[in-house]
Amino acid sequence: MRAVRYHEHGGPDVLQVDEVDQPDSAADEVLIEVRAASVNAVDARFRAGSYGSVSLPAIPGGDAAGVVAEVGEDVEGFAEGDRVFAGGMGHGEGGTFAEYASIPKMKVAHLPENISFEVGGAIPNVGVTAWMAFVENAGLRPTEYCLVHGGNGGVGHTAVQLGNAMGADVLATAGSAEARERVRDLGAVVAFDYDSETLADEIYEATDGEGVDVILDHRLDDYLGLDLTVAAQNGRIVTITGGIPAVEDAPLQHKEVTVRGMAIANTPERRPVLRRIARLVERGDLTAEIAETYDFEAVGEAHRAVTEGGYVGKLVVRP
Ligand SMILES: NC(=O)c1ccc[n+]([C@@H]2O[C@H](COP(=O)([O-])OP(=O)(O)OC[C@H]3O[C@@H](n4cnc5c(N)ncnc54)[C@H](OP(=O)(O)O)[C@@H]3O)[C@@H](O)[C@H]2O)c1
Repeated sequence: MRAVRYHEHGGPDVLQVDEVDQPDSAADEVLIEVRAASVNAVDARFRAGSYGSVSLPAIPGGDAAGVVAEVGEDVEGFAEGDRVFAGGMGHGEGGTFAEYASIPKMKVAHLPENISFEVGGAIPNVGVTAWMAFVENAGLRPTEYCLVHGGNGGVGHTAVQLGNAMGADVLATAGSAEARERVRDLGAVVAFDYDSETLADEIYEATDGEGVDVILDHRLDDYLGLDLTVAAQNGRIVTITGGIPAVEDAPLQHKEVTVRGMAIANTPERRPVLRRIARLVERGDLTAEIAETYDFEAVGEAHRAVTEGGYVGKLVVRP
C-alpha cells in the first residue's frame, strides 16, 4: 500500500510517499481502508522531533475515516464494509496517512451515513478535545460565558460550536478579520483580534462586567495573566498546551479560579465521546470546517500550513 512516511526528523520536506506492507490488525484492532485523514498541530511536532519519541520510519496522522477492511478476533460490533471514524492517536499509534491503518477498537466508532469521510476524518482529535475540555473538565453550563482562544483553529472551531450547542455565550479570538467573521458564523457571540492591545478590556466588557466562567486556553504561557484578569469569580481555566508562567497571584486567590490541564491521551476509551460527536454532527450542531484538502504527495505543504495557521478549521489528507 502507499503511505506517507518520514525516515528522519526534520522540516516538512522529510515527508515522502513510500510503498509499504499493509498493516496486520492485532486481535483488538480494526483495519480501516482510509478515505480521509487530517493534520493536527501535534503531527508537525512529532515530525520535527520536538514532541516525544517516535520510532522511525514513521507514518504520521492520528485521525481517520474510512471503511472497515478487517476486524480483529477480539473486536465485536464492527463488520467489513462498515463506515467508521477514529482518532486521537499519537506517540507511536495512528499512522493514518496510509491507504490502510490498523487502529485499537476503543478509538473507533461508526460514522453515520450522512457524515462525509472528510468531516469524519477531520473531527475526531479536535472534537474529542473540545468535548473533554467543556463537558468533562470544565462542566460548562447553559448561559455561562466561555472564552475560546484561537476560535478558528482545529480545536477552537469545534469548541465554539460545542459551547454554543451547550447553551453558553461563546467569546472567541482569531488572528484575521475573515477568520473572526467565520467564527461568529459558527456560533461565537463576539470574536476578538488576539493581537489587540486592549483584549482583556474588550473581553471583560463583553461579559457585562461579570467575567468569563470557562476559558479554553491553548497557549497558557502567553495567556494565563489575561485569563486571570477576565475570569469570573470561581472561573475555570482548562488548558491543552503550555505551562504556568509567573503571573500576578491576587486574581487567582481573590476569584478562586481553577487552572486545570488536560490531555486526551488520558482518555484512551474514545468511542463513547466519538459517538456523541457523531450525534452532534448528525443533528447539525457541530461540524469540521475543511479549509483545504491535500493528496499524499502534498502532505509536506499541509504540515507547513498547519504551522503557519491563518485558516479556519482543518486540513484534510486523502490517499
Ligand atoms: N492537550 C490535548 O489533549 C490537546 C489536544 C488537541 C490539541 N492540543 C494542542 O492544542 C493546540 C491547538 O491545537 P489545534 O489543533 O487547534 O491547532 P491549530 O488548528 O493549528 O490552531 C491554532 C490556533 O491558534 C491560533 N493562534 C495562533 N497564534 C495565536 C496567538 N498569538 N494568540 C492566540 N491564538 C493564536 C490560531 O489562529 P490563527 O490561525 O488565526 O493565527 C489558531 O486558531 C496545539 O498546540 C495542539 O497541539 C492539545
